[in-house]
Amino acid sequence: MAAVAWGRCFPRVWLRRRAGPGCGRHYRAALCAELKQPLAIEEVASCPVRPHEVRVDVHFCGVNFADILVCRGQYQEKPQLPFTPGMEFSGTVLETGTDVSTVKEGDRVIGVSGFNGMAEECIIDHKTLWQIPEGVPLREAATLPVSYVTAILALEHRACTRPGETVLVTAAAGATGLAVIDVATNVLQAKVIAAAGSDEKCSLAMRKGAQSIVNYSQGSLKEAVRKLVGSDGVNVVIDAVGGDVFLEALRSLAWEGRIVVVGFAGGTIASVPANLLLLKNVSAMGLYWGRYKEQNFPVFSRILSSALQYCQQGRIQPHIGAVFKLEELRQRPQKICYVASEEK
Ligand SMILES: NC(=O)c1ccc[n+]([C@@H]2O[C@H](COP(=O)([O-])OP(=O)(O)OC[C@H]3O[C@@H](n4cnc5c(N)ncnc54)[C@H](OP(=O)(O)O)[C@@H]3O)[C@@H](O)[C@H]2O)c1
Repeated sequence: MAAVAWGRCFPRVWLRRRAGPGCGRHYRAALCAELKQPLAIEEVASCPVRPHEVRVDVHFCGVNFADILVCRGQYQEKPQLPFTPGMEFSGTVLETGTDVSTVKEGDRVIGVSGFNGMAEECIIDHKTLWQIPEGVPLREAATLPVSYVTAILALEHRACTRPGETVLVTAAAGATGLAVIDVATNVLQAKVIAAAGSDEKCSLAMRKGAQSIVNYSQGSLKEAVRKLVGSDGVNVVIDAVGGDVFLEALRSLAWEGRIVVVGFAGGTIASVPANLLLLKNVSAMGLYWGRYKEQNFPVFSRILSSALQYCQQGRIQPHIGAVFKLEELRQRPQKICYVASEEK
């Protein structure tokens, strides 16, 4: 399934009583105190907001593959222990710092944080908050930054996908894969071949708009794609699996095709046989969504805003596989990745 979002479990009345500027208040947060161990849910003391910061009443936080990797010490960024995981969240503004004029108390916002979203509240730089337009529910909004920004960056910004082109997406029923299908089909008017590891996942991908499916647990991905599109191949590949799946996808590309590496969910990083790039004039490129926030913020911000706009216009529909309460995260320490990978 796609990214999982969770909601707070305390009634809003309780939160309102505790919310408000100043110290002395406490809120609950998920804490990773030791790698590969269950998360703890603890009361944490509120800090004052600094001039450029905003305190947000967090309603939903996306649970992503990367969160599991971070909590296992296997992500490219390694926060100091203890830390609160959670890279994307939605909520309402509780308090703003003295220099903040972009949002005000009560505004509905999406936040893209380093590691602090899985908590009842969060303090964040105002630059990494985006207003949620009317009509977009907080729950759906929380799932947009990681999977949809990745999908749009990969398809539009990196692969320059054009209408009518054929896109092959692997791990198609994962959060990223489903977002790729949604954007490719409903925004870019491309044709999607969804490749996944079970019939259930393939049928979910089909329901999300894929035109064709391949269950790569049952045979060669390259042969199955060839049966679908002939020897011409596909124009674009978005690969989140790596290993042999990546290599077969690379071999499925058409003349001047583009393959975008977004992840290695299968655990193996493949080497690119450079002769394949030469023979068919194909391009292999990588994408790391979070790096755009640091290196090219205007592009990151424009793409997140366009995801919000597509959602408001009803052109994309994020798939939410499950919603957990904060305290339920504690019971799913090692299993989150599998929970996040299976349709409920
Ligand atoms: N580069 C970026 O900026 C970026 C952004 C978002 C995600 N990612 C990466 O993209 C990958 C997928 O992320 P996601 O959010 O789509 O995750 P997800 O919702 O948890 O889905 C993961 C999918 O990966 C496939 N998979 C293959 N081998 C696996 C294994 N050993 N364990 C678990 N899943 C496995 C599964 O599909 P099948 O069974 O169908 O193969 C599964 O549905 C991850 O590596 C993630 O880190 C990268």
